[in-house]
Amino acid sequence: MNHFELRDGELSCEDVPLAAIAEAVGTPVYIYSTATFERHYTVLRDALEAEGVRDPLIAFAVKANSNLAVLRTLAQLGAGADTVSEGEIRRALAAGVPPERIVFSGVGKTRTEIAFALSVGVCEINVESEPEMIAIAQVAESLGRRATIAFRVNPDVAAGGHAKIATGKSENKFGVSFAEAERLYANATNNAWLKPVGVACHIGSQITDLAPMAEAFSKMAGLVRRLKGEGLEVERLDLGGGLGVPYFNQPEPPSPSEYAKVVAEATRGLDVTLAFEPGRVIAANAGVLLAKVLHIHERPEGRRFLVLDAAMNDLLRPAMYDAYHDIRAVSPRQGPVRPYDVVGPVCETGDTFTRDRDLPAFEAGDLVAFMSAGAYGASMASEYNSRPLVPEVLVKGSEFAVVRPRPTYEEMLARETTAPWL
Ligand code: LLP
Repeated sequence: MNHFELRDGELSCEDVPLAAIAEAVGTPVYIYSTATFERHYTVLRDALEAEGVRDPLIAFAVKANSNLAVLRTLAQLGAGADTVSEGEIRRALAAGVPPERIVFSGVGKTRTEIAFALSVGVCEINVESEPEMIAIAQVAESLGRRATIAFRVNPDVAAGGHAKIATGKSENKFGVSFAEAERLYANATNNAWLKPVGVACHIGSQITDLAPMAEAFSKMAGLVRRLKGEGLEVERLDLGGGLGVPYFNQPEPPSPSEYAKVVAEATRGLDVTLAFEPGRVIAANAGVLLAKVLHIHERPEGRRFLVLDAAMNDLLRPAMYDAYHDIRAVSPRQGPVRPYDVVGPVCETGDTFTRDRDLPAFEAGDLVAFMSAGAYGASMASEYNSRPLVPEVLVKGSEFAVVRPRPTYEEMLARETTAPWL
């Protein structure tokens, strides 16, 4: 459920008509609903607690939506942060996430980033390979600070909505095998600069079938039992993120309570604290990308292009993953439903949001909303074609605030300098 609904014939976010935001901020613009973020976080937490999962660490995957106001909204509910760079750790801290609720993941952490994570005292660094474990131990020694680590295991399970976002097969770059995890865990226990506290997995994103999750989680539970059987201490099991969301017209994902049941079933009796790294399930349906129709270009051979002021640099998912986003008129008009190709102004054929989609009547100047754009939308945006970075607005009830302004052209250009010989 989300809080983007038609009110008096106008698409609104909570109590604010989207048209009012377009008027104040211009388009394209991302718009987020506080109530939807809060609802998604609490539904997931309550579903886990209802299944007896005590005091889980729900570390929001910052890559899904890294806006500081969004992170602060979630931090105030008790969310932690799953981070994959120093920049994301800094964002989480700036948003008020306590370091003991920050997980540092990622296959390629630099020594500088590892040192930063250790100096602020993140709750765990998820180690993805043996060379990385050695690097962490060396950095920890140089700082005189023991590193709390968990091993990210690649459970060799196929899952995820698209090959580019499946991470849990052994051919993917992520994590160590079960055998390596057992060997490295024992090694780390004997290293004065490492404190292994647990194991982690994340098998993919936009997962709409619980079977691969159940398989991965029970393999992880087996690993925890084996490690404990060897007399090693395991306090934490991090089950990653990955739960899919209902993109319109796509396979219905499992509900948080069905997911929580699978978690509880797989981890019963393990006596570990569970951690989760959800991104999309919390953020996707809490945001839309609002754009304006520049014109409708009808080609003689029959194609009808809806040319928007938003482009692939603002919302990359359709170009990158052939992702489906529901496209809605903000003030729906009467008129025939007809097929459109919805495109942006960037000079690439890939700058196509959808082809041959049946949509209602539009005219130049109309506002359109890309639904389910709160996750991996603004956080993946770029300035390609020298289009200033798309702004972000957070709504709460009848109020809204610009939480990332649109840069001016002067600001965009001022970041660059010329070379001394020019
Ligand atoms: N934890 C780790 C280690 C991850 O790599 C990811 C996502 C998550 C958690 C959060 O997964 P989620 O709950 O959001 O599925 N840009 C793509 C999605 C990439 C996901 C990468 N990793 C998209 O737009 O679909």
